[in-house]
Amino acid sequence: MDDETWPGLGVGDTVVSAEKIATRVAELGAEITSDYAGKAPLIITVLKGGFIFTADLVREIALPVEIEFMALSSYGNETRSSGSVQILKDVDVDIAGRDVIVVEDIVDTGLTLRYLLDLLGARQPASMEICSLFLREEAGTEAPDLRYVGFRLPPVFIIGYGLDVAGRYRNLPHVAAFDPSV
Ligand code: IMP
Ligand code: MG
Repeated sequence: MDDETWPGLGVGDTVVSAEKIATRVAELGAEITSDYAGKAPLIITVLKGGFIFTADLVREIALPVEIEFMALSSYGNETRSSGSVQILKDVDVDIAGRDVIVVEDIVDTGLTLRYLLDLLGARQPASMEICSLFLREEAGTEAPDLRYVGFRLPPVFIIGYGLDVAGRYRNLPHVAAFDPSV
């Protein structure tokens, strides 16, 4: 679908086009393929925002990956993270001894990820790296090190390609600024 013709209210300026996302996701997949040669990494996707990114990313990884899903909830208003996190769904497998790659949609303050890494790290994976499609340029100092980052973002709230406002806009094929005035 053409970026310009998407009909949803609130869809502001394009921040990253669908084409640019596809190019960058292919690069990340190639990087992971070469970094994990000879291994079978366990991808752990953070729902819901990471589902579209993961679906595209894993098809760019030429390795026998396994895919698990976690769902976390952080409370607060719609556009800021409060730092209080709950597990809504855990992975279904033992991650001890596995090469884990945590796939996130966006790291903002890093609080969600920090919580997740503490939790998963205690289960003794062989290795654990993070792949986030977006990193807020002004991410908090508590943001963990990210091995793979798709794009660095200015302080604008974005929607699309898995990212939502109040559950909507995840199906937008590109990433746009959320603009309630549009
Ligand atoms: P953090 O804990 O502050 O790093 O927040 C990370 C989570 O907040 C992400 O996984 C998203 O679910 C959500 N989030 C942060 N910024 C945005 C945004 O610009 N658009 C949509 N969701 C966002
Ligand atoms: Mg999220």
